[in-house]
Amino acid sequence: MPERPSQTIIGEAPAFLEMLEHVSRAAVLSKPVLVAGERGTGKELIAARLHFLSPRWERPLIKVNCAALTESILESELFGHEAGAFTGASRSHIGHFERADGGTLVLDELATISLRMQEKILRVIEYGELQRVGGSDTVLVDVRIVGSTNADLRELVVQGRFREDLLDRLAFDVITVPSLRDRVEDILPLAYAFAINMASEMKQEYFAGFTAKASSSLLRRDWPGNVRELKNAVERSVYRQANQELQIDEIAFDPFDSPFRLRRDQVRSMDDQPPEQRNRKAVLPLNFAARMQDTEKDLLLAGLEKARFNQRVAADLLGLTYHQLRGKIRKHKLDRS
Ligand SMILES: Nc1ncnc2c1ncn2[C@@H]1O[C@H](COP(=O)(O)OP(=O)(O)OP(=O)(O)O)[C@@H](O)[C@H]1O
Ligand SMILES: [Mg+2]
Repeated sequence: MPERPSQTIIGEAPAFLEMLEHVSRAAVLSKPVLVAGERGTGKELIAARLHFLSPRWERPLIKVNCAALTESILESELFGHEAGAFTGASRSHIGHFERADGGTLVLDELATISLRMQEKILRVIEYGELQRVGGSDTVLVDVRIVGSTNADLRELVVQGRFREDLLDRLAFDVITVPSLRDRVEDILPLAYAFAINMASEMKQEYFAGFTAKASSSLLRRDWPGNVRELKNAVERSVYRQANQELQIDEIAFDPFDSPFRLRRDQVRSMDDQPPEQRNRKAVLPLNFAARMQDTEKDLLLAGLEKARFNQRVAADLLGLTYHQLRGKIRKHKLDRS
């Protein structure tokens, strides 16, 4: 019998509890579900919870990171292939859809898949059947699909990059994992849990805690990388604390921080100022054109992040038209990130 995962999900903020309740309700169904949320919010943990709370929990849970694979590899990974289907396919290969039969298939970073693959996935959802690459037999599968993404899929539909019919099917129910900003109450409990784990990994007997200054800097931060970023910063701080008897006073937010990075430090201290003042301070000499490019890129990222990557909202925030914003996003190649 498979074991349920040991990783505990921490969080008691109202927004988080509401989301967990939503997960419990959605878990009993076999219909597709979409897990949305900013990066690092815990979408993978939630996708696994959907499986382990479901009647399918004893069957396989398979996760595929769609962004990490090229289209042809993803196709044969998902659908399998017959021997001789393409050069190098000497043996037949059972794909994830077949392996996940009776269980759950998590399509992580779903927004990145090609339109052709989207169509093939839609067929499995609609008819519960597929053909291996290079095969002609129809294989029946019973798989629950959980998609996860931090992209705005409706925006991608508008741009013609995501199929509306697939989104309709996947979005039977959408679970949105709240960002850390929407669950500030959870920051310190998460930080303590990560710190205690790290201390025990380092064979320390106990964790002495955070000072008031450290706690308040944890609480004040905006956490664009959410729980993953918090976890990294806390683990790094515990790791850097030379004396385990002392409470942690400084949170190591930036791994590259160093007294030898003078120029960069000046840039960093500018980040702490309101954006309209940031560019007034100039460390000379400088490369004007490059500096302007960097500034433009920073403003774009700030706008996009604030707008949770909804480009229409970001354009409004930045006082640009949607088309101006699109042009600048292309220029700085921010499309993919
Ligand atoms: N509520 C939580 N309790 C404990 N750990 C958590 C929680 N949420 C997230 N984590 C931890 O934070 C890290 C990021 O979580 P996860 O990979 O699930 O996020 P994600 O939303 O899938 O991120 P990405 O968008 O980058 O793929 C993991 O190490 C995970 O264990
Ligand atoms: Mg993920």
